[in-house]
Amino acid sequence: MKENVLRNVGLIMDGNGRWAQTQNKPRLEGHTQGIITMTSLIAHAFDKGVENIMCYGLSTENMSRPTTELSHIFDLMLDIYEKFVTMMTEKQASVVYVGNLDVLPGIVRASMQKAQNALNKFKGSGRTAYIGIAYGSRNEIVNAINTAIDSGERVTESSFLSSLDVPIDLDLIIRTGGERRLSNFMLYQSSYAELYFSDKFFPEFTGDDMDEAFDWYNNRKRRFGKI
Ligand code: FPP
Repeated sequence: MKENVLRNVGLIMDGNGRWAQTQNKPRLEGHTQGIITMTSLIAHAFDKGVENIMCYGLSTENMSRPTTELSHIFDLMLDIYEKFVTMMTEKQASVVYVGNLDVLPGIVRASMQKAQNALNKFKGSGRTAYIGIAYGSRNEIVNAINTAIDSGERVTESSFLSSLDVPIDLDLIIRTGGERRLSNFMLYQSSYAELYFSDKFFPEFTGDDMDEAFDWYNNRKRRFGKI
């Protein structure tokens, strides 16, 4: 059977808090494990030939979570820096952080900038991890519309896609944690994406689980509206 090419994957990482509860741990522990899982899944996806992966770290709405929870997640991002950059260097991949980054503490923004700069040399390699922080798809779309209005240029479907923060058409979206919705994630870019939902909580989602999702994708008949 002809295999579907899998280039671009979106990952909605849900269920950190509920996973921690199942382990009788405070919910913050779920994020601690979650960021480790995210790092190893990005590596796994590149090993399997994925070119672009977009991880939904924090939504615009998540930014109103308690300060203790947000500070913990920011600390985790600082803690994982070396491991993350080492893994990405091994995979020869670049990173792009997307979202309303202005609302983040300066030290977090500086660390993200440092990671982007360190991995900039892999920009032409064809492997990129996008990480959404304070990200919301509607906001991304509205910003792109306003940029187009300001430029006075009419857009086409493909020029509009290129003007988005994450300028890729998704082939597959994986959402963990049991919910079956997109939650303001890449609404324009998901037009023809296959949607894969797992009941597993994000911290327990392994490379083997990702392979299962990829196998499922491979067996889908993608018609793009044709017959
Ligand atoms: C979903 O779990 C996860 C989040 C809201 C954000 C945390 C994500 C990570 C730690 C992965 C890496 C993050 C970044 C920023 C790079 P939840 O807390 O909504 O879980 P629940 O639905 O069980 O409450």
